[in-house]
Amino acid sequence: MSSFLKNSKNPKKTLLQIDHVTKSFPKPDRSNLLVIDQVNLTMYEGEIVALLGKSGSGKSTLLRMIAGLTAPTSGKILYRETPVNSPMKGIAMVFQNFALMPWLTVLENVELGLEALRISPKERRERALHAIDIIGMDGFESAYPKELSGGMKQRVGFARALVIKPDLLLMDEPFSALDVLTSESLRSDLLELWQEPDSPMKGIFYVTHNIEEAVLTADRILIFGANPGHIRGELKVPLTYPRNSQDPEVLKLIDDVYMMMTTSKPQSFKDDKSDDKKIEIGYRLPEAGIAELVGLLEELDGLQQKGPVDLPELADTVRLDIDDLFPVLESLNLLGLAKISKGDIAMTDKGREWLEADITNKKILFADLLIQHIPLAKHIIDHLEDSPPHQREHYNYFLEELEGYFTGAEAERVLNTMIDWARYAELFNYESKTGFLSLEDVE
Ligand SMILES: Nc1ncnc2c1ncn2[C@@H]1O[C@H](COP(=O)(O)OP(=O)(O)OP(=O)(O)O)[C@@H](O)[C@H]1O
Ligand SMILES: [Mg+2]
Repeated sequence: MSSFLKNSKNPKKTLLQIDHVTKSFPKPDRSNLLVIDQVNLTMYEGEIVALLGKSGSGKSTLLRMIAGLTAPTSGKILYRETPVNSPMKGIAMVFQNFALMPWLTVLENVELGLEALRISPKERRERALHAIDIIGMDGFESAYPKELSGGMKQRVGFARALVIKPDLLLMDEPFSALDVLTSESLRSDLLELWQEPDSPMKGIFYVTHNIEEAVLTADRILIFGANPGHIRGELKVPLTYPRNSQDPEVLKLIDDVYMMMTTSKPQSFKDDKSDDKKIEIGYRLPEAGIAELVGLLEELDGLQQKGPVDLPELADTVRLDIDDLFPVLESLNLLGLAKISKGDIAMTDKGREWLEADITNKKILFADLLIQHIPLAKHIIDHLEDSPPHQREHYNYFLEELEGYFTGAEAERVLNTMIDWARYAELFNYESKTGFLSLEDVE
């Protein structure tokens, strides 16, 4: 059955309404960090909506708010016109890391989904057995999670969500921990369930980092922007099932998604008109290693004979998910080694110069790029130069500064990326034993 028919079951009845929702988390200094900003969304019956966005943009936080697991700081979430303040009867969630109880069997784990519903043990068992059957895990009822492969664990995760016969199914990167074949088979099983005429499911809202998978699955794709998280754009997928990844319409939509994810408001210091230095220092540096930067430029060099490279083509060639690919692309763009525009990427002259330089010159060039394009690098150097007599400063000093912009783990991640890049460029030194950054011992 096509999604069109599913849609026609109940045209345009509102399932979920997200109204000016924001979410802040407290930071160590007791101020607040805005993670989600003014998200508005109306989801209708019969829709599968996919949320795509880069790591740390707040996708899980948004999903947890819809699930009633955490409350918005401001704004409202309505599920079938009822405010969501706690987990709701008709909403179930599938977690990325399965979240199974290791001491319970498959059957008991699935029954757990029904515990809150106060139904009789007999019915609980019957429904759990049925759900296990539906997701193809019969025979494994008395197995423990540790005996199962990742794909089987996620099937149990699905069964636990489906057993409550959810009206709205939420899923947080449900396929990302699985290998390609397993995730494809699970995805097609889920779509089959979705299309069954007597399926209780009226909507699926799910987070993914896989663009092709979103185009093959969703009726609507939301592109999520970061810092703070917000909906940057939306793309309708007016295709029926089954969808084929080689279908020109599918390929075109994949292209469009890449375009939307990389063109509107690329966050680059050069584009940042504000002269508020603090905002620039607090840029969330993408997590990419030097080897990855070189590796991707080499790939580009190979592909670029005919001009700029299409991002989906590049992603396909290097076989990387966007979570792994985008930080590398963003780094190349930030550093001026490549230029991304309209869904294409091209190596710049600087990029070529860097790629072709020998090791010593690579380091020198990279140091220049850091000073020129990464305000945090310049800031750290300036501070160390102003710290006589040893021109050094403790890691925690900079960490605390960054904690003004990010929550704990994020600040550490950004500082570590900065240190990795700077060490490579021999811009400053970091001695993990003492915890000091210094200009000493640097050529
Ligand atoms: N309970 C919390 N307390 C403080 N900060 C939090 C909390 N939960 C999330 N954050 C922060 O909110 C931001 C968004 O996190 P979230 O997990 O929602 O992102 P995400 O888009 O799901 O990322 P990923 O793709 O890596 O799963 C991050 O900076 C994270 O550190
Ligand atoms: Mg997440």
